[in-house]
Amino acid sequence: MYCENTKKQFELLRNKKDAVILGIESSCDETAAAVVRGGKVVLSNIIASQIEIHRRFGGVVPEVASRNHTLALPAVIDEALKTANITARELDAVAVTYGAGLIGALLVGVSAVEAHVAANYISEPSLTPPFAALVASGGHTLLLDISDYNEYKMLGGTLDDALGEAFDKVARTVGLPYPGGPNVEKMAKEGNANIAFFKHAKGVRGDLSLSYSGLKTAVVNYVNTLKQKGEEIPTADICASFTKEAIELLSKTATEAVKRSGRNRLVLAGGVASNGDLRCALAKEGKKNGFSVLYPPPVLCTDNAAMVASRAFFMARDGKGLAGLDLNAKSHIPFGGGK
Ligand code: KG4
Repeated sequence: MYCENTKKQFELLRNKKDAVILGIESSCDETAAAVVRGGKVVLSNIIASQIEIHRRFGGVVPEVASRNHTLALPAVIDEALKTANITARELDAVAVTYGAGLIGALLVGVSAVEAHVAANYISEPSLTPPFAALVASGGHTLLLDISDYNEYKMLGGTLDDALGEAFDKVARTVGLPYPGGPNVEKMAKEGNANIAFFKHAKGVRGDLSLSYSGLKTAVVNYVNTLKQKGEEIPTADICASFTKEAIELLSKTATEAVKRSGRNRLVLAGGVASNGDLRCALAKEGKKNGFSVLYPPPVLCTDNAAMVASRAFFMARDGKGLAGLDLNAKSHIPFGGGK
């Protein structure tokens, strides 16, 4: 619900090229606030991570996350404004993540996948659509054709587990601490990819769909069998082998998606986009197939509020995204289903 005055302000915002937006992000285990000018210039980007709090539970505990967002958010917002050298009154708008994520956590800061893609407009201000994108996080693994700031279509993606989720599960299975992805990556460097978990389904599927639950289960079964036999768990080799299989399939499927889209750029987004092996594999494919690969620095790959503010800027430009204080949190939002 919003009043006439809010609508008028929104019209002003739509036409302001250098609008200053405060973004707030609390969809999972990061409490973040950022101030961004004109959708691309980051004046501040503050992230208070709860990783240490959740590590002892081996994953994110929703109630603990929402309680800690409540505690951290006021100071994080203060810090974002202070660092940007701006007062709350000088802001043109406030943008919040309202889904997808953990409901308890979202209610504190009432994302959408689109924001992860928008992180690339910040790290590479010369970037403009069209391009193809791969969003790989704890909740999504999607291949997209981004034809304009607010226009995109799905080219493919996972039918079951997200890639980040599979990384996290493999980490837990071999006893690596949360967050799983970076620890599996580190461990993989010390191992050999000499275990074939999933010998079939290596080829790119016609509908560009992916699946990670089978691979994940194969790793779990492999480890359980060794445990039952009382044999040693080759942690590094498991991490290297899982990573190789997961990434081979993804980079081949992403390459086919870029070809079908007819674009000459592939933009990476989401937490898994920090993975060096994935970046390397895609850069190689790009070289071979004539497309460039862009990715943000790790701080913009993970959940952050600068991408939320950037996304809000481009939504507002197209007259989208106005919400009142009755905006409710959603645990799932279909891609492109943001207000
Ligand atoms: O986008 P993100 O920060 O949060 C949400 O999913 O909301 O992504 C987090 C996911 C986690 O599953 C994490 O294990 C994974 O990204 N991740 C990685 C790496 N860094 C983070 N996976 C593989 N390699 C990494 N270096």
